[in-house]
Amino acid sequence: MMNDNTPKRAQFATRLGVVAVTVGSAVGLGNIWRFPYEAGANGGAAFMLLNLLFVFLIGVPVMCAEFVIGRHTGTNVRAAFRKLSPGGGWGFIGYIGILSSVLILSFYSVVAGWTMEYIFRSVSGAAGGASPEALHSQFDAFAASNWRPAMWTVLFLLCNYAILSRGVEKGIEKVSNVLMPLLFAILIAFCIHSLFMPGAADGLKFLFRPDFSHISGRVVLSAMGQAFFSLSLGLGCLITYSSYFSRRTPLMKTAFLTASLDSFVAILAGVIIFPAVFTYGQQPEAGPKLVFEVLPAIFSEMTGGAVWSTLFFLLLFLASLTSTISMSEISIAWFCDDLHMSRRGATRLNIGIAMVFGVVCALSFGCLSDFTVCGLTVFNLFDYVSSNILLPVGGMAISIFAGWVLRRSVVSGELNPTSRAGRVLVGVLVFCMRYVAPVCILAVFLAGIGVIRF
Ligand code: PFF
Repeated sequence: MMNDNTPKRAQFATRLGVVAVTVGSAVGLGNIWRFPYEAGANGGAAFMLLNLLFVFLIGVPVMCAEFVIGRHTGTNVRAAFRKLSPGGGWGFIGYIGILSSVLILSFYSVVAGWTMEYIFRSVSGAAGGASPEALHSQFDAFAASNWRPAMWTVLFLLCNYAILSRGVEKGIEKVSNVLMPLLFAILIAFCIHSLFMPGAADGLKFLFRPDFSHISGRVVLSAMGQAFFSLSLGLGCLITYSSYFSRRTPLMKTAFLTASLDSFVAILAGVIIFPAVFTYGQQPEAGPKLVFEVLPAIFSEMTGGAVWSTLFFLLLFLASLTSTISMSEISIAWFCDDLHMSRRGATRLNIGIAMVFGVVCALSFGCLSDFTVCGLTVFNLFDYVSSNILLPVGGMAISIFAGWVLRRSVVSGELNPTSRAGRVLVGVLVFCMRYVAPVCILAVFLAGIGVIRF
């Protein structure tokens, strides 16, 4: 029934390419910046275990749902739901996805721009020898300096443009094939270095020895939100990417591999950061500043600190880039497929919109810090609306759609189990799509908007 438009549609060329782009989308600031500070603030190991539970209980089924929808329809997120259920009223999921992707791209590019500033500082030796207090105020002064963060945001988005305008196979896939192995190599080098630090034992104890007294309703909810954000779920990013998968791509294997590698990178980030935090007497509960204030303080005391610092922020920059190109592709695919724009024109439009909103987000730490909506600056508003409202609503709708609206034969046909164990697994995944994921996500959403309290 489907795939009538496949001859002209781009496809990722290789199996390795599929894994590189999907893992590239998942691994980003969410793993290396957000996971360590969330784990640090929420009791370490207990948070990590909960997060892993959600990744496999909800993340993998929702990811499979996105893969099934994307590959079966071979089109963008908005058209996919119309094609599968004409007149069914499910098209709203596509619009939610497109809106979320623009909001996330805007504030995410600001943080990615900060990593460029820190690469620049590391290379120029600007942070060398500064005290932790000086580094704190340097970060605050930089974030509030208006033109500089805005400039990095624009530059970061231009890097996205350079890759995206080349297209799916020549741009996204080629770049991911090179960047992802590089990223893993840098991560492993950092890990080995951290394991030899004097505070390694304390850091690892913090990360791996669970203390369940830290678990509260709020911690459970953050662990689930983290799973969604980190796996790029709920906005149709993986629907869009899987529309470029070939029929031979094994969806269940790709989902399990992506979820495992994504969790592995988050754990590696913890193994890198916590031994350093304990070695240099810093606080694991430092919050979002952990990476931008605490780590530079640590690097400035380390031998060869400038090199480590450059490498670390380069890693963060590369990880951000492979994630933002996947967010952009959501709207670009829509502009190309439905509005019949050229690839270049669609990319220009997407990046242009993100630049306008991105600069506003960057300025919300400076001259626009007093401009608030419902008490939130533009940066915080975009983050709050996308992570706490749009992603949960989108994820729940996608899961319900795949579990209840899509014919079971379509789901099994796409997941294509080849053994008895595979067929059982499909049954378990469908059960999770129908019941487990919607119920859990509803709980997160209601708690996120403050309707229920645990
Ligand atoms: N998964 C990315 C990260 O962990 O940084 C963030 C992300 C990418 C969210 C792509 C949404 C998305 F569509």
